[in-house]
Amino acid sequence: MIAVDYYELNDGNALPAVGFGTFSLRGEDGVAAMRTALETGYRLLDSAVNYGNEEEVGRAVRASGLAREDVRITTKIPGRHHEYSLAVKSVEDSLRRIGSDYLDLVLIHWPNPSVGKYVEAWRALVDVRERGLVRSIGVSNFTERHLRAVIDDSGVTPAVNQIELHPYFPQDAMRRVDAELGIRTQSWSPLGKRSAPFAEQPITRAAAAHGVTPAQVVLRWHVQIGALPIPKSADAQRQQENLDVFGFELSDAEVAAISGLAREDGRLFGGDPDHHEEM
Ligand SMILES: NC(=O)c1ccc[n+]([C@@H]2O[C@H](COP(=O)([O-])OP(=O)(O)OC[C@H]3O[C@@H](n4cnc5c(N)ncnc54)[C@H](OP(=O)(O)O)[C@@H]3O)[C@@H](O)[C@H]2O)c1
Repeated sequence: MIAVDYYELNDGNALPAVGFGTFSLRGEDGVAAMRTALETGYRLLDSAVNYGNEEEVGRAVRASGLAREDVRITTKIPGRHHEYSLAVKSVEDSLRRIGSDYLDLVLIHWPNPSVGKYVEAWRALVDVRERGLVRSIGVSNFTERHLRAVIDDSGVTPAVNQIELHPYFPQDAMRRVDAELGIRTQSWSPLGKRSAPFAEQPITRAAAAHGVTPAQVVLRWHVQIGALPIPKSADAQRQQENLDVFGFELSDAEVAAISGLAREDGRLFGGDPDHHEEM
C-alpha cells in the first residue's frame, strides 16, 4: 500500500496530498472502483451531490474495513441549494446518503454569480461546521472576487478552493491568490481528462528520465507546485500508478517546462466561473 504525505489546512485539519476523484463512478462498478482505490492507499474521496454517487461513497468506505476517521470524504453543494435553509438541508441530506454523522470537507460546487447567493451558502457552511456536521469547509471554482466576498461577509476563510488545474491550465494567478489567503488549492481534472498532455515533450522527457509514466509526471508536478490533485480512474492499475508519485522528484527545470505548456485558454470546456454555471 502506498503511503501519502498530508497537508495541514488553515483550520488545523489535514488532507492527503493526492485524493481520488469519483465523478462518473456509480452503482456496483462505482463502489468496486472506490474500494480498490481505498485498498491502494487513497484516503480522500471527492464526491458531490451532483455526481449522484454519495451512497456509493459511503458503501465503499464501510466495505473497506477502514476506520471512518482514516478516510476523508468531500462533497459539494449544488447551485440549486445556495439559499441558506436549502444549503443546510443539502448537507444534512448528503450525510444521510453517505451514512456518516460528519463530513470531512464540504465545498460550494460553483459560485453561480447570476443566482447571487453563494455568500448565503457560505454562511450556511460556517454554521454546519459550528454544529459539528462538517470538519472543514471550502469552495470550488471561486475567483478572487468570490473568495473575498465570502471572507469579508463571514470573517471565515475557506480551507480549500478546488479549481480546474492541469498543465494546459496551470492557474498561476489563482494559485497565488489562494496561497496569499492561506487556502489550499485542489486540482480538478488534474490529468486533463480527455485532452491529457501525455504526448507533450516536457512530459515524455521527464517520464523517461525518472522511469515513470506521463500520468505520474503530471501528478508529481501538481504535488511540487503545492496543488492537491484528485485524479479519477476506474481501473485498479491506473489508480495505483496515479498515487505512486512520492518516490521521485522533478527538477525545477522540469516543473517549469511542464508549467510552460500553459495555453491562452487552456480550459477543457470553457468553465470560466464568472460565466459557466451549474445548478
Ligand atoms: N469541482 C468541480 O467543478 C469539478 C469538475 C470536474 C471534476 N471534478 C473532480 O475532479 C476529479 C478528477 O477529474 P476528471 O475525472 O474530470 O479528470 P482526470 O482525473 O483528469 O482524468 C480522468 C480520465 O483520465 C483517465 N486516466 C486516469 N488515470 C490515467 C492514467 N494513469 N493514464 C491514462 N489515463 C488515465 C481516466 O480513465 P479510466 O477511468 O479509464 O482510468 C479518465 O478518463 C473528478 O472525478 C471529480 O471528483 C471536480
